[in-house]
Amino acid sequence: MNPLSDRASSCYPDGLMPTRRAFLRTLGAAAAAAGASAPAISTAAQGRKADEPIPGFPPGGFPDGSTRMNFNENPLGPSKKVIDAVLENGLDESNRYNYIDPLVEAIARHHAIPEHNVLVGCGSTEFLQFTPWAFLGDGGSIVLPTPSYGWSAGVAEAMGRQAIRVPLGEGGVIDTAAMKKAIRSDTRMVYLANPNNPTGAPISRDEIVSLIRALPGGAVLIVDEAYHDFLPDGDGSLELVRQDAPVLVLRTFSKAYGIAGLRLGYAVAGESVLEKVRTVWWGDFGINTAALIAGPAALADQAHVRRYVALIDKGLEQLRSGLRELGITPLPHRAPFFMADFGVATNPLVRSLQDRQIFVQPGAKWGMPTFMRISVGTSRDNEVFLDAIRALRV
Ligand SMILES: Cc1ncc(COP(=O)(O)O)c(C=O)c1O
Repeated sequence: MNPLSDRASSCYPDGLMPTRRAFLRTLGAAAAAAGASAPAISTAAQGRKADEPIPGFPPGGFPDGSTRMNFNENPLGPSKKVIDAVLENGLDESNRYNYIDPLVEAIARHHAIPEHNVLVGCGSTEFLQFTPWAFLGDGGSIVLPTPSYGWSAGVAEAMGRQAIRVPLGEGGVIDTAAMKKAIRSDTRMVYLANPNNPTGAPISRDEIVSLIRALPGGAVLIVDEAYHDFLPDGDGSLELVRQDAPVLVLRTFSKAYGIAGLRLGYAVAGESVLEKVRTVWWGDFGINTAALIAGPAALADQAHVRRYVALIDKGLEQLRSGLRELGITPLPHRAPFFMADFGVATNPLVRSLQDRQIFVQPGAKWGMPTFMRISVGTSRDNEVFLDAIRALRV
């Protein structure tokens, strides 16, 4: 196994990397579903020796001053208003279990949807992790594009279900026709990310609707909108929930709102979908006190989101034009990350960047060895990255 791709393997390969972790977490979910207490999971049980680095993190953590362009994080950081709110109100009552209704209300108000259409969770990962238990518990398959964000597919496989991976089309776009062909009568989940991670390609509302029409009865389409701020139609697939389509839309506070470390996400769906998801949902246990306070404060500061989107758009231009000058071909899509084709295997280059404390993702982990996935950083991060590429390519 390539030591580099093994090391930089978080955020996340196509269903492969999460599998082991997914499997172990699903042990917990299965036990919880059965009313038993979840087993404690030791490092050894995770298949990792105590002294081995956590996948995706350099040994000892990221050195101070690292240029971190590998996890699609928000380079602006959290809104100052969010930090103030958490510091002022977030911690005094952390001896108490949380009452999540005000958070749910704030999200529902923000989208002008009824509160009963919203479930909040410990990042959108809570839903990616547990939804397979709701829809594939009795059997069935999941269909998803590849490469994409394969978390639920990893869980499905750990449950012994089949994940049917449909290769992306030209330019890294989701091949809707091939996805529809792959859907079988036993398919219970179809997953897509819009825009897709790692390629950044969007999928149109019409194509999503055509996928919904291809679903067998009882199946759900998960539309993961972690990066929806970069979609042309803004509102993403929430409109489909309003029309009572069998979709589960996932949103996160980790990206535009810049609070990945506070772990807050939510799912929006109609009642027939949510009644299944509720059977595996963590309820108010998925939400920590700081996230409970941070969520409404983040929603109230849309100016912060606009600054983030503007920073990313500018950074995309800066990075792409810098790479093009070097004869490197970036994919054209709008997302807070992009893939670029270097024309040669990028693993050695990613390793050399890492030696300079610049972190990006090698395309090899998604079966695209000549590509690199670069998360847009601040203009300074972007320049540090471009300077290093210039130096390393001579
Ligand atoms: C497409 C996609 N979905 C979900 C997530 C996880 O988000 P969260 O932090 O809300 O668990 C990520 C993280 O990078 C992602 O890229």
